[in-house]
Amino acid sequence: MAVNLLLGLQWGDEGKGKIVDVLTSNYDIIARFQGGPNAGHTLIFDGQKHVLHTIPSGIFHKNAMNVVGNGVVIDPVIFQKELENLSKFNINISSKLFISRKAHLILPTHRLLDAASEASKGKAKIGSTLKGIGPTYMDKTGRNGMRIGDLELDDWKEKYSALTEKHIKMIDFYDVDIEYNLAELEAEFFNAIDILKQLPFIDSEEFLNNAIKENKSILAEGAQGSMLDIDFGTYPFVTSSNTTAAGACTGLGIAPNKIGEVFGIFKAYTTRVGSGPFPTELFDENGATMSKVGHEFGATTGRPRRCGWLDLVALKYAVQVNGVTQLMMMKGDVLSGFDTIKVCTSYNYKGTEISHLPYNIEEHNVTPIYTEFKGWKEDLTSMTNIKTLPKELNEYIKFIEDFVEVPVKIVSVGPDRKQTIMR
Ligand code: IMP
Repeated sequence: MAVNLLLGLQWGDEGKGKIVDVLTSNYDIIARFQGGPNAGHTLIFDGQKHVLHTIPSGIFHKNAMNVVGNGVVIDPVIFQKELENLSKFNINISSKLFISRKAHLILPTHRLLDAASEASKGKAKIGSTLKGIGPTYMDKTGRNGMRIGDLELDDWKEKYSALTEKHIKMIDFYDVDIEYNLAELEAEFFNAIDILKQLPFIDSEEFLNNAIKENKSILAEGAQGSMLDIDFGTYPFVTSSNTTAAGACTGLGIAPNKIGEVFGIFKAYTTRVGSGPFPTELFDENGATMSKVGHEFGATTGRPRRCGWLDLVALKYAVQVNGVTQLMMMKGDVLSGFDTIKVCTSYNYKGTEISHLPYNIEEHNVTPIYTEFKGWKEDLTSMTNIKTLPKELNEYIKFIEDFVEVPVKIVSVGPDRKQTIMR
């Protein structure tokens, strides 16, 4: 049986948590393949909101096994808090949550390094979530990192101390004001490690490939979005992992020929948190309405998200890079009430109209060219049937499908599991 992928196609926060939750009952295993606690996957059911950062969204489903893959970076302190939040659900965590020995650990000093690096950049800062993601992946590719499997070795604390000492020197080198109490951070960290060690550590590539042989169904859950991919995103304003389809292969040890469907999630409009180019960003009332109606605040940092019209040039690019086979459109309900809805269908790039994503999409290089649509007034949030969707919304969806040449299979009209319409 093939492994299906679920990926965000914009700058993250597309609503992957909700869709994984909706789809989970179809899968035996949900596996996270990249990123870390910079992600915040929000799930709403039974009138309650739950935010997961590292733990796959299948944890709430009775029968799904959950794997944190080798491509993920884990902060034991945040992980412990996630486990504590789950304790009220009476889930037998250690029988359904497995962690790759090859996943890297975020140390307290990685977080400090993140803060020092951002502070030293001044205006050029990336707007990092400051969770230590960049420095941890730097240690991974620099071949200095600590992995979950190291915790099973006798000398892991020595390795930890050597790396931490090195980090302290690097923090000093940045020459910025970062206040911290390492002893306190370490006490919290070591305590959290003890909790983490109660979970099963596995050779996840072996586990997943055996599961494929046994015909188990697997959903690989991405974090962030394609435009934040370290290679294909708006570099350097990106995260430090491959958020695109290829990242699922390296982040789980699954071969490309084992990939089946690629589900691509996008919002009916666009949002971005942090710095970096965003051609269709709105600074007017329309943007403010999207922000207010869509509750556009980061699930991890609480920062307001920048809002703008749907950028089909960027979406088409993401569909291509990922090989998306089915689209899922989120937050269609947020666009109810606009007289006119715009979508960007090409760019004016340095005076020439282009229809692809160029190397440089900064504001001074790119101006979006829009196609306009008549809006709809109906409230979509209680609609459950495709037939009841307004004509204007159907036209909007049809246009998107034709433009990117992939069908939209799910339209989400609200945050709850139930507010999901299949097409
Ligand atoms: P970092 O990965 O925390 O260093 O953040 C790098 C950039 O990616 C920043 O612009 C963040 O705002 C953005 N980012 C990281 N994680 C997410 C996410 O889950 N959703 C949206 N943006 C994110």
